[in-house]
Amino acid sequence: MTTGACLASIGHQVTCVDVDAAKVARLAAGRVDILEPGLAELVGRGLTSGRLSFVVGARAAVAEADGVFLCVPTPMGAGGSADLRAVEAVTAEIGDVVPPGCALITKSTVPVGTSRRIRELLGRDDVPVVSNPEFLREGTAVSDFLHPDRIVVGSDDLAAAHWVAGLYDELAAPSVVTDAASAELVKYAANCFLATKLSYVNAVAELCERLGADIEAVTEGMGYDRRIGRSFLKPGPGWGGSCLPKDTHAMTRIAEAAGFEFGLLRAAIDENVAQRDRIIAKIAGAVGGSLAGARIGLLGLAFKAGTNDLRDSPALAVASVLAAHGAELTAYDPAVGGELPGMTVVDDAYQVAKGAHAVVVLTEWAEFRRLDWDYLAELMDGDAVVDTRNLLEPRRVLDAGLSWQGIGRARQALFPTAA
Ligand code: UGA
Repeated sequence: MTTGACLASIGHQVTCVDVDAAKVARLAAGRVDILEPGLAELVGRGLTSGRLSFVVGARAAVAEADGVFLCVPTPMGAGGSADLRAVEAVTAEIGDVVPPGCALITKSTVPVGTSRRIRELLGRDDVPVVSNPEFLREGTAVSDFLHPDRIVVGSDDLAAAHWVAGLYDELAAPSVVTDAASAELVKYAANCFLATKLSYVNAVAELCERLGADIEAVTEGMGYDRRIGRSFLKPGPGWGGSCLPKDTHAMTRIAEAAGFEFGLLRAAIDENVAQRDRIIAKIAGAVGGSLAGARIGLLGLAFKAGTNDLRDSPALAVASVLAAHGAELTAYDPAVGGELPGMTVVDDAYQVAKGAHAVVVLTEWAEFRRLDWDYLAELMDGDAVVDTRNLLEPRRVLDAGLSWQGIGRARQALFPTAA
């Protein structure tokens, strides 16, 4: 839907197809129910201009297309590899009605070799298969689409690859036009690199605590090196979401199938589990060692700020272990409501503090920075604040008479003059 609305906004005529009739009806009426800034406006404008439509039924929709984008989910399947059933099903469904010369373009994250597999399934020489991975982040997907760092397109039919790259001319981004396998690999290599970068930072943060250093200063010092870059250096409760966990597992399987043991990536995945465990130990320590019966308030549930997505959320992973150890959890997230197992979800941040022995920040929502810590301190039964995103200003929490712990921020590095 994001791809469709964005392609329409740069001048293309787009028909979005989905099997979910209720979703199609909502979108056709301009109702967007995912939290994605700018998307509802783009959908509205696309519908009004007539350049964007939403329909059920792929066969009719593709009959006159110049290009068909496959944007179906490729979730984690058996043993960690990508489940390609949706890609295969849609290919089988439309294979005989795609017009000759129309490019079949995969946007979904698919293992290397999938373009070849789609070509075999199609069994047609007159339909080029093109890989065109996307690099959109949830919460900034529209802006990432409209201001991309690069466009990557790969096909064994180079003319078709150039045609697809040309669809983005309006965006004036650098483009990499290559073979199908390379384009498919770019997506995994990029996401797995980002995951590895985060695991590295989280491990360095652990070292900071042990050595009396401050990860915020360390990453600032690292980030000015243009070879490293300043982004994706923020420690946290581990990386999650619908992409990095799934893609790291899939990449280890892709490597294995190619006879290569990708030990570095395996270590990054293991480090992510270790980070979650360290966070849990830190919270347990903050409530006096035992989680059983501890009342803990959680600030944030989404896998990152700016989204209501709970898929593979580190916050939920932490919460489920805390609950399993007998902690009583109350949670607030500005974008998440309803019922969740093992906790009471409330609708404002101060409610999580009521009677809590500890308050834990798990998602980096900016509004948590503006909380009144004096008031929170009054509401709490204990004094522990654990900030797993290094979001808060420690001084404000400490001045409210509370104790504070961040990630990778040794107290003596933060307050060198303190005893
Ligand atoms: C990720 C990639 O960043 C996108 O480029 C890619 O297109 C997308 O997956 C995808 O494959 O579709 P996304 O899943 O939206 O995007 O989330 P990220 O912004 O990458 O964050 C992933 C996780 O890393 C989150 O849990 C986040 O909190 C964590 N993170 C991120 C940190 O802990 N520290 C950081 O500095 C950055």
